[in-house]
Amino acid sequence: MDGQEPISGFSRLSREERIEMASKLSANPEAFARELACFWHKDPEVQRILEEFSENTVSNYFLPFGLAPNFLINGRIYILPMVIEESSVVAAASKSAKFWFTRGGFQTEVISTIKPGHVYFKWKVNQDLLMDHELELESYLIEHTSHLTENMRKRGGGIRSVSIHAMAPEMPGHFKLEASFETADSMGANFINTCLEAMAGLLPEFFRDKGILIDEYDLEIIMAILSNYTPDCMVSCMVQCPEEDFAGMGAGLSSLEFVGKFKEAVAIATHDPARAVTHNKGIFNGVDALVLATGNDYRAVEAAGHAFAAANGKYDSLTGIEFSGGNLSYELRMPMAIGTVGGLTGAHPLARLSMDLLGFPDARELMQIAAAAGLANNFAAVWSLITSGIQKGHMQMHLSNIVNTLRATAQEKEAIIRYFQDKQVSYRGVEDYLIQLRRSL
Ligand code: MEV
Repeated sequence: MDGQEPISGFSRLSREERIEMASKLSANPEAFARELACFWHKDPEVQRILEEFSENTVSNYFLPFGLAPNFLINGRIYILPMVIEESSVVAAASKSAKFWFTRGGFQTEVISTIKPGHVYFKWKVNQDLLMDHELELESYLIEHTSHLTENMRKRGGGIRSVSIHAMAPEMPGHFKLEASFETADSMGANFINTCLEAMAGLLPEFFRDKGILIDEYDLEIIMAILSNYTPDCMVSCMVQCPEEDFAGMGAGLSSLEFVGKFKEAVAIATHDPARAVTHNKGIFNGVDALVLATGNDYRAVEAAGHAFAAANGKYDSLTGIEFSGGNLSYELRMPMAIGTVGGLTGAHPLARLSMDLLGFPDARELMQIAAAAGLANNFAAVWSLITSGIQKGHMQMHLSNIVNTLRATAQEKEAIIRYFQDKQVSYRGVEDYLIQLRRSL
């Protein structure tokens, strides 16, 4: 911007100095600083831990940490920790879990646990010389990164394969080295990236030693990075029960009508990408809440899930349905690259607590729990959509957010909730009613 200098050294300022600088942008600098300080943890040591997760930290951003009981997964009962800001999600998960509790629960399975990463490079000499050395290169890279993979190998992980792929015709002369990793109980991002960066250094060395690279421009490394597209790190989760079990689900639907309408709703998500995105969003409501509560990277899980949903060239639902022999089975299949060691999983005090609540699962078990959370939320969403609609429950719960935003007193809140019990909730409606209420007092 004209005449303005960028801020330099912001990260080197103390927390208080950062707040002071930022508060100048606030309409009420004193209140701004006070409010931020209100959310610091009372134990300075915990506050220090929280601050060090990120940079330029000034406070903590609180989100609700809720519990969804009655999850029966592969015969074991869990209470799921869920961190989410959206009302109704925890209620929906709980409702669904309770429904399936008496119908066999969630049957889950880890399909695969391999994660890929790449070194992208330009190769300017004969392509055959590159491809002919693929196998030898694989052994060389695995051997020369063995010091980096030693601990992981002890835990059952490591590098599983290395291969080379041409990026022609779109990018002639460009190649990617693809490495597949097993990362045991960790999500493994740091491990994978460390190995890939080492490989990026080893790649030119290997070909130079062979006398294939003469000029330093013969091979140009562009970048080394894991891929969040993890279709070989997959989990599935299924629920099933006889059609009669869907009696009394609402809207006066018979069990057969409910099943028919449910199938229609899933078919719509399968055929219409516009619906599939929202259908899948409902899955991620549950998945992300669990993933966040356990200190995992929900952006990675989201990115992989959406890419997988579009893997056939058209964005599709992540769930599939089958109705045969009077039995309805409903299944979710999705990539799930999460871990139970490393990252925030043990470092964040509440993530650790989540792990404790879940009985300190290994990564495979956590993948399955997250999938169950996803299917539970999706089932509850579609159930609502084809019966009462989601707004009724949603807006009643959203009412409490509106009331808090409007800073209503406890007494006003009570009156508002009573008044809107049987009415359509909208921000404007609540605001108008509050004004009216205040005038009448
Ligand atoms: C809202 O967060 C999620 C839903 O829109 C999902 C769906 O439509 O299936 C209710």
